[in-house]
Amino acid sequence: MRTAIVTGGASGIGLATTRLLLEEGWRVVAADRNPAALDDARGKLSAAADQLRLVELDVTSEEAVDTLVADTASSFGPIGGVVNSAGFGRDIPFFDTTPDLFRQIHEVNVIGAFLVSRAAALAMRETGGGAIVNIASVSGMIGNIGRTAYGASKGAVIAMTKVMAVELAPHAIRVNTVAPGPIETPLVAAVHTPEIREGWHRTVPMRRYGMPDEIASTISFLLDDRRASYVTGQTLAVDGGFVASGLLAPEG
Ligand SMILES: NC(=O)c1ccc[n+]([C@@H]2O[C@H](COP(=O)([O-])OP(=O)(O)OC[C@H]3O[C@@H](n4cnc5c(N)ncnc54)[C@H](O)[C@@H]3O)[C@@H](O)[C@H]2O)c1
Repeated sequence: MRTAIVTGGASGIGLATTRLLLEEGWRVVAADRNPAALDDARGKLSAAADQLRLVELDVTSEEAVDTLVADTASSFGPIGGVVNSAGFGRDIPFFDTTPDLFRQIHEVNVIGAFLVSRAAALAMRETGGGAIVNIASVSGMIGNIGRTAYGASKGAVIAMTKVMAVELAPHAIRVNTVAPGPIETPLVAAVHTPEIREGWHRTVPMRRYGMPDEIASTISFLLDDRRASYVTGQTLAVDGGFVASGLLAPEG
């Protein structure tokens, strides 16, 4: 049985990924800093209790990350997959973006993903390799308004993925990025106003938001050493055609 660590695993994309990986026979450590979300997830995933560990973790704590990875490798592993889904953002104009917010977003989205990936890759290197999937965003690929800090952090994740893929290939560790468009998750429910929703519906060629399961299935493909055995260093936008688009036909 393969073991995966999913950060941000108690909500949204991370929760959908945890559920799918459990169905596919993985052992999963769902790590999240929100205890209430972890309790909630425990109820939703109770059928798979022996395959699942729900762990409180702040990905910005190097010590806590190292402990989680060591515990997982020694008693629930070997670690074959990592999904870095813990993250957050804010929609704020450039001139209103404070250095403090810029640092906080990078601390979680970039440094957190780096810490988890590095600790897990060190373990994977000893046990024959594995796969890492980082969750970026379409906002790391193009200039969406209000995303100075968030977009920069997700652009950094995309660049980090490519370097990791190159350096870790000799260790049989593949590293890829999934860049979601707008996905119906608790994060989005909290921050997308009707105006923001209207904007996405107008500019996404498929004219709808994606669902967490549609990201989870892409992550599961990229983690799979049979189906994605020669895929590494890639950024796959799962976005209803958003980053591929130019002029759209009027809705009608
Ligand atoms: N939902 C979208 O439209 C969308 C689009 C593009 C990218 N993303 C990215 O997908 C990822 C998941 O987002 P989501 O929409 O599922 O959000 P979500 O808020 O539903 O889930 C994110 C989870 O990450 C956890 N988390 C945040 N900071 C953490 C930390 N320091 N340590 C551990 N856990 C932490 C939160 O507690 C939460 O449970 C994020 O990286 C987000 O930037 C989401």
